[in-house]
Amino acid sequence: MLLFLLLILQTSLKGSCTSVSGHCRFPLGMEDGRVKDKDITASSKWYETTGPQFARLNREEGDGAWCPEGQLQHSDSQYLQVDLSVLTFLTLVGTQGRYARGLGKEFARAYRLNYSRDGLTWKAWKNRQGNTVIEGNKNTYAIVYKELHPSIIARYVRLIPVTELSSTVCMRVELYGCPWHDGLISYSAPEGQLMMPPGYPPASLNDSIYDGTHERSCSGGLGQLTDGVVGMDDFLLTHEKQVWSGYDYLGWRNDSQGTQGHVEMEFVFDRQRNFTSMKVHSNNLFTRGVKIFSSVSCWFKPRLIANWEQETVTFRTVLDDRNPSARYVTVPLNQRTAKALRCRFYFADVWMMFSEISFQSGENPHPDLKTSTHGELKVKSNDPTEETNTPILIGCLVTIILLLVVIIFLILWCQCVCKVLEKAPRRILDEEVTIRLSSCSPANTDPHYERVFLLDPQYQNPAVLRNKLPELPQSAEASACGGGYAEPDVTQCTPHQSFHSNAPHYAETDIIRLQGVTGSNMYAVPALTVDSLTRKDISAAEFPRQQLIFREKLGEGQFGEVHLCEAEGLPEFLGEGSPLPDRDSRPVLVAVKQLRADATLQARNDFLKEIKIMSRLDDPNIIRLLCVCVSSDPLCMVTEYMENGDLNMFLSQREIESTLTHANSIPSVSLCDLLHMAVQISSGMKYLASLNFVHRDLATRNCLVDRRLTIKIADFGMSRNLYSSDYYRIQGRAVLPIRWMAWESILLGKFTTASDVWAFGVTLWEIFTLCKEQPYSLLSDEQVIENTGEFFRNQGRQIFLYSPPLCPPSLFEVMMRCWSRNITDRPTFDGIYQTLRRHVRE
Ligand SMILES: *[C@@H]1O[C@H](CO)[C@@H](O)[C@H](O)[C@H]1NC(C)=O
Ligand SMILES: *[C@@H]1O[C@H](CO)[C@@H](O)[C@H](O)[C@H]1NC(C)=O
Ligand SMILES: *[C@@H]1O[C@H](CO)[C@@H](O)[C@H](O)[C@H]1NC(C)=O
Ligand SMILES: *[C@@H]1O[C@H](CO)[C@@H](O)[C@H](O)[C@H]1NC(C)=O
Repeated sequence: MLLFLLLILQTSLKGSCTSVSGHCRFPLGMEDGRVKDKDITASSKWYETTGPQFARLNREEGDGAWCPEGQLQHSDSQYLQVDLSVLTFLTLVGTQGRYARGLGKEFARAYRLNYSRDGLTWKAWKNRQGNTVIEGNKNTYAIVYKELHPSIIARYVRLIPVTELSSTVCMRVELYGCPWHDGLISYSAPEGQLMMPPGYPPASLNDSIYDGTHERSCSGGLGQLTDGVVGMDDFLLTHEKQVWSGYDYLGWRNDSQGTQGHVEMEFVFDRQRNFTSMKVHSNNLFTRGVKIFSSVSCWFKPRLIANWEQETVTFRTVLDDRNPSARYVTVPLNQRTAKALRCRFYFADVWMMFSEISFQSGENPHPDLKTSTHGELKVKSNDPTEETNTPILIGCLVTIILLLVVIIFLILWCQCVCKVLEKAPRRILDEEVTIRLSSCSPANTDPHYERVFLLDPQYQNPAVLRNKLPELPQSAEASACGGGYAEPDVTQCTPHQSFHSNAPHYAETDIIRLQGVTGSNMYAVPALTVDSLTRKDISAAEFPRQQLIFREKLGEGQFGEVHLCEAEGLPEFLGEGSPLPDRDSRPVLVAVKQLRADATLQARNDFLKEIKIMSRLDDPNIIRLLCVCVSSDPLCMVTEYMENGDLNMFLSQREIESTLTHANSIPSVSLCDLLHMAVQISSGMKYLASLNFVHRDLATRNCLVDRRLTIKIADFGMSRNLYSSDYYRIQGRAVLPIRWMAWESILLGKFTTASDVWAFGVTLWEIFTLCKEQPYSLLSDEQVIENTGEFFRNQGRQIFLYSPPLCPPSLFEVMMRCWSRNITDRPTFDGIYQTLRRHVRE
């Protein structure tokens, strides 16, 4: 299992994500010779010794580079052509001049790119602003890397040096990217339309980077739908800067000319393929009249010159009126073989918007290990408009989680089959009962709650599941497998919430909310559909920024920094009913969380959202938002700070009170203090739970302590380097607090109050070990995840945290109940609070 996981992690980081430009940067073989001499040609060469075969980056053969004949004029169009022999997703170009051991003087200050998929029609590359010229070298030796935004899907590439003045140029190059396994060589679609959202600038939903013809409809090319950039939940926001709103999406209006309730698209592939599925990334901002398609029908054609086959594949989606997130919709294509596909997407609302479409076909080879052994290029881009890696990271996370879910499904499926084969009398697997109960429990008001195994495309189509189990007798199948997954037994569910009627179906986007714990979101908010917040939504008062006096940096995260500041005149500013404790005329210390000045619009909105959420929280055990500075940049939120710092630090520096410790100088705490702390945390969590807030990162590092041992729950941990080992890292970036996370959060991406209860159990454990040890300190991150799988399988092989020596047995029982595999077996925060209170009194 461990190996498997690692393998998955590896392949998903290297492979599945290769379509995302950030991870697809493998050198394609100019330098190391995988591109053969015969595949490098040129419009001309000056001498035999400056022929195209010498245009290899970092090589010094011949006269050291390729140089076209004569002096290059401004109007000239000389080129170097590389045949990559397969369709390739190109993301980066590296160029170098002719060094020739110090003798060379020539280099190309600028160049253009042409590319072709078939070797016949050539297209000129343009960046997102429509410029074709790429800045090249400044000297004869340094390599200049240029990111291609948008990336290119092509087999042939031409580099065309350009000059202002007549001069000699020479070039050495390397191309970077990865094989394009989709095999899609062109799509055609009606031209995207202009939307006039009231109160916003018009959104142009056209396919602006489409490289085919634009006449009437787009045809013969690829564009926005294959550029690897997934649109955001709010289609008006874009990943690129300096583009218009709606840029990432291609969108159509139902009632416009040429659409009779549907949009028809055609897809042409490099060869015949055996299709398993199509994934369509679609917007679902229903508040603005956008929804995923209601159904899609696809026709297939075995050859280009042939008739469309009679039999179609039709797929109905389950519409979702609750979750406005953009999502991938997976359409099963039932292993049909074709070279071309025509699909009709039916409108479910006034607008339909897609940002990406990809195809999975049977013989898709797995990531080309041949190329990946050459190592990914790690270059710091010198392109100022370069994107952050967040979308890629999210993409990878989603992929990993998806894969995990697929594994779970396989395991379960296997168990089902085994059970039936053994003719075991048990009707229903524990797993399924659990999942069923959990997904129907009336306590679930958090929309994240129900996204169980729906991640797997299998589940979207019960028919597929059936087909996979042909040997099973119908009844056995229904009770052993069908029940829990495809068709929940409604009699067991009160209130009834069928997956088919209203449960949001395509959950991949929800996983994206995992980024909530990477520092910008404090709590997961159920169904908060704030698109843009304005000043008046924020109830906290604006504090004069100059009265915040910087003391020290508490932490730093993706969003910005957290500073410890002294706030001059804050008690007076807050006036009557100020939540500040007595100060004894000491300065008021506050934590100031400050958004990075160059934060994206999305991050700004998240930040404002967090302020809004925080300003609604009012509990003695929750850190309080005191005031904000949002009238000018950088945006700040000012929260209480507690002089004893965080609980983890506080406890780890203490010993348990005993007659012995009085003698030495180590400060001590009593068992009673510890219990009292636990009560306070449960009380704060009880409050959050009553508001249906899910914290997602409860741990001692996120609780603050004051002089009187009052505890307040906050969320700083993620932003502190100090605790980085508590978070699981993907590609060197802290991501998930896996040691505190419930199995269903890790495996299924479900974050609920019940998973907070799990984390509370771990927090309790930390308290009673005086934070001297990390949970599961003997297990590596991978082993922790593996252990999660054991929790899921529930075959008694899972490892629990041990009972801390200080911990009364009855309290350990509470912890163990928090770590119940079944969500319904876990206590509520209210219950925990009552139990702990009883302990304190005893
Ligand atoms: C590059 O592509 C453009 C547009 O198709 C074409 O006009 C131009 O001639 C091409 N140049 C070369 C050198 O292929
Ligand atoms: C797409 O819309 C933008 C903004 O309205 C416009 O500048 C651009 O030319 C359009 N592109 C195409 C290919 O029509
Ligand atoms: C889309 O337009 C068609 C024809 O104009 C109409 O029949 C249909 O009801 C519309 N569908 C939606 C979901 O608005
Ligand atoms: C497509 O794949 C399926 C499953 O792998 C297989 O049963 C079917 O024969 C394949 N079809 C063709 C035409 O190769």
